[in-house]
Amino acid sequence: MCGLVGYIGQKSVSDVLVQLLERLEYRGYDSAGIALNENGKLILEKSQGLLVNLCNKIENKHFSATSGIGHTRWATHGKPNERNAHPHISENGQVALVHNGIIENYNKLKNELKDIKFISETDTEVVVQLLGKYITKKSDENHILQQIARVCEMIKGSYAFAIMVAHIPNKIFFAKKGSPLIIGCGKGENFLASDIPALLPFTNNIIYVKDGEMGEISAEQIKIFDFKLKQKNNIIKKINLSPEQVMLGNYSTFMEKEIAQGSYAMQNTLEHIIKDRTFYKIKKTKFQDLSMMSSNIHIVACGTALHAGMLAKYVLEKECRVGVSLDYASEFRYKKPLINKKSICIFISQSGETADTIASLELAKKCGAYCVAITNVITSRISSLADFVIPTYAGPEIAVASTKAYVAQITALYALIEFVAKLNNKKIKYNSNDIFGVVKTVENWSAKLLWHDLIKDICTKESIYFVGRGVDFYLVKEGALKLTEISYIHAEAFAGGELKHGSLALINEEAIVIVLLTQKDLIDKTLNAIAEIKTRGATVILISQFEYLKNCAQHFILLPKVKDILMPFVAIKPLQELAFLCAKEKNLNPDKPRNLAKSVTVE
Ligand code: M6R
Repeated sequence: MCGLVGYIGQKSVSDVLVQLLERLEYRGYDSAGIALNENGKLILEKSQGLLVNLCNKIENKHFSATSGIGHTRWATHGKPNERNAHPHISENGQVALVHNGIIENYNKLKNELKDIKFISETDTEVVVQLLGKYITKKSDENHILQQIARVCEMIKGSYAFAIMVAHIPNKIFFAKKGSPLIIGCGKGENFLASDIPALLPFTNNIIYVKDGEMGEISAEQIKIFDFKLKQKNNIIKKINLSPEQVMLGNYSTFMEKEIAQGSYAMQNTLEHIIKDRTFYKIKKTKFQDLSMMSSNIHIVACGTALHAGMLAKYVLEKECRVGVSLDYASEFRYKKPLINKKSICIFISQSGETADTIASLELAKKCGAYCVAITNVITSRISSLADFVIPTYAGPEIAVASTKAYVAQITALYALIEFVAKLNNKKIKYNSNDIFGVVKTVENWSAKLLWHDLIKDICTKESIYFVGRGVDFYLVKEGALKLTEISYIHAEAFAGGELKHGSLALINEEAIVIVLLTQKDLIDKTLNAIAEIKTRGATVILISQFEYLKNCAQHFILLPKVKDILMPFVAIKPLQELAFLCAKEKNLNPDKPRNLAKSVTVE
């Protein structure tokens, strides 16, 4: 959580910091702040709420500084207010710091600083106060680096820091362990950021700072060290992304843009898997014997990524007859999972940064399992830890609600299932060409107009229910999460056959139930569920490709027809669009839902 940035160069630093932060706001938007070095004095400007509040606050202030750091926060320790907003400054005004991560032993470290009056409730402040204690006005660059290394060795937890020291205005210092940090290399200017989108308008030349690395940037130089202060080589990578890819273009929100990019995410992911011969280097022996694989495959993820995993488990079991276990990463990491050297563990994560998924991966590795990561960020921590990475190519996903990444994840998973089937001479109901065939259907079709007359009604409800069976159950689970997340309507998904075991008690004349029905072999059973719901007087919105079922519900949304097994690629779109339209109707910003942030880098 949280985004941090730093700039040092010739430009007016406050403008650049704001531009950098704008593209990281998806990482947190409880408060924002900057620290500038004005002729050897550290100036802090902070504001509660969105970055725009900070912009308004500094609008008429003219700073001459050309170096500074900035932060956009997702609160963990301490309320989301101005006092707790970053940057934090040491009591003596010598050091300012921004932080992404968590300092687990901050209470213990505070004991070292009994004479210091802490201003905020954050875990971060202890770091800046420690640095303030060790760094004096006489400290040269080398001494400062030593003190940063000293403090890093004292910290338990995860961090990326950008640090400014008052009497060294021509340098920004940094350190990293566990939270992302990159350096943007410009001409006569250099940058720090938590993620690539921030830097794209300025430079495509990036250095990925590794865990256990620290250093300094000036306008002309970048120096990277390990914590023993041994200098490392600067490995600059050229990023093949354009600024447009992280801009809204003709769309008013990223979520709308990203839903529309679902078909691109499918096509791009599959094309890469084929062109890069992705499975060429996978440990084939692990996937060769279905009888051995059974009960040895584990899928672990959180949120939307877990829903992609649920779908994959169902398809893998049905098509390849292989048993798969599935866990929330937050549960897996504490449950003493039944895994060993023979196990294959598949970790799915858009960001590759999710703390619980990382911890689960580390645990699986310790148990000797073969760890496969499916992630949209090839340079992420999850990628670097896994034995094998299946990258998804959805492009940067900015909206907090995951949409195109989900489509890319199920594409990669379907491709993996096809590969497993081929390896075991198993005939399954689809191949990659069939998936390519669905791309245009997904691209050319939208349910936005079909939802039009229903959205107002849906938005009057406190709760909305979803029902599905088979793959449709996993899809409606994702639909319900999306609706809850961005429209704040309580939404729950039920397996069609389970209604009468309890949840039917919720259904009355007021209820709206959205039923998804895309599998031919489950028509009759799902119609039973619809009958049970209608009998209780509720309104049913049926989403299906079977047009002849039109009159089975009060409202009907007709899906384009593709092979049943590939219907998830089509059917997810109207569910994502429903959530988006409800957020719009309620005047909520779907890109920045309250209390949430894009990547959950804390437990
Ligand atoms: O980056 P990850 O895929 O690991 O993130 C997992 C979840 O936090 C994420 O999918 C979350 O549920 C989304 N906001 C849902 O839209």
